[in-house]
Amino acid sequence: MVRSQPFSSQLDASPQLGKSLASSSAGTRLSSFVLSEQVVCELRRSLLSWYASQGRDLPWRQIRDPYAIWISEVMLQQTQVKTVIPYYERWLARFPTVKELAAADQQTVLKLWEGLGYYARARNLHQAAQQVVAAHGGNFPRDLAGAIALKGIGRTTAGGILSAAFNQPVAILDGNVKRVLARLTALPAPPNKALNHLWAVSEQVLDLQQPRDFNQAIMDLGATLCTRHNPACLLCPWQPHCAAYNQNAVSDFPMTESRPPVPHKRIGVAVITDNQGNILIDRRKQEGLLGGLWEFPGGKIEPDETVEECVKREIKEELDIEIEVGDRLVTIEHAYTHFKVTLNVFNCKHLSGDPQPLESDEVKWVTLEEIDQYPFPKANSQIIEAIKEQAKKLK
Ligand code: ADE
Repeated sequence: MVRSQPFSSQLDASPQLGKSLASSSAGTRLSSFVLSEQVVCELRRSLLSWYASQGRDLPWRQIRDPYAIWISEVMLQQTQVKTVIPYYERWLARFPTVKELAAADQQTVLKLWEGLGYYARARNLHQAAQQVVAAHGGNFPRDLAGAIALKGIGRTTAGGILSAAFNQPVAILDGNVKRVLARLTALPAPPNKALNHLWAVSEQVLDLQQPRDFNQAIMDLGATLCTRHNPACLLCPWQPHCAAYNQNAVSDFPMTESRPPVPHKRIGVAVITDNQGNILIDRRKQEGLLGGLWEFPGGKIEPDETVEECVKREIKEELDIEIEVGDRLVTIEHAYTHFKVTLNVFNCKHLSGDPQPLESDEVKWVTLEEIDQYPFPKANSQIIEAIKEQAKKLK
């Protein structure tokens, strides 16, 4: 088997790429080469032929409606296809057009997004829908600058939408595509340190005659064959041109960045009930990871206090009320992308004071029957399950 084809043998000199790579912060001067025209033609042909027989049949590939494609692209930003499909279908049933989304209230939007995570995506989609209605008469902009000007749409999401909806020759560079191109070119730096280079490669390989299918195909290649672990190189249409494969070093690419350890937050949480059995919840401020969602009040445990002391203190600080902290209801471990949390949840009794939204946008007493109408982060819905279980036992 001949597998020693050197990286540069399929590449031509390119001052344009040399410039973009020189500005990379990797400290490595990456290759100042681009793929040859002949290789590019073969990459396009082989990928499109593979996609015609092996591409996935996904709901947003049957349509050309830019609004529906936009919804799919935003949902797919940080979430896998199989998780997205039911959310995508529910979303379009509830908000079939951009006008209906623009006119909705934020709570309805967040409730429909509940469980998908990264809630800024839903808040931004909602605002961007209002932008499209107000500034573009309800029509999604057809140019890159207009698309990127919308809330929550970056360069790769814009490329995904414009190529899929209008067959426009706009490149993409999501996580899967970064991995594919890093292996194809045996990129000697972590992808996020060589973004200019990767964008240039993505633009160079893009098939200008069939940009829609090409972009969908390269995403499928990354998702189904050129996977992070155990890539199926023997089935890959790009194997003959893949520099990582030809160096027998696929597992070395993409190179990884050293990551700081994930912080772990320990939180005390109060499920506060009044004499009628109502439960106190609050709506988080708009900014931040879970902005606009409802939660059970609480906060970070300080090093010198018990969880019970933390709960009492946080409730006084956040709501200006007095409570009695009772027994532990449940303990929940949850991993977000950038940190882990342990929620120590306590049953609490309201003693005195009218709850004030000192650190939230709104506070509300709700019944257990009403609580499902409110959007909560995933970790908090486990608390609701625990409250319901407890109520069943007490009946
Ligand atoms: N990830 C982002 N966009 C996608 C698409 N259109 N199909 C599959 N996965 C994707």
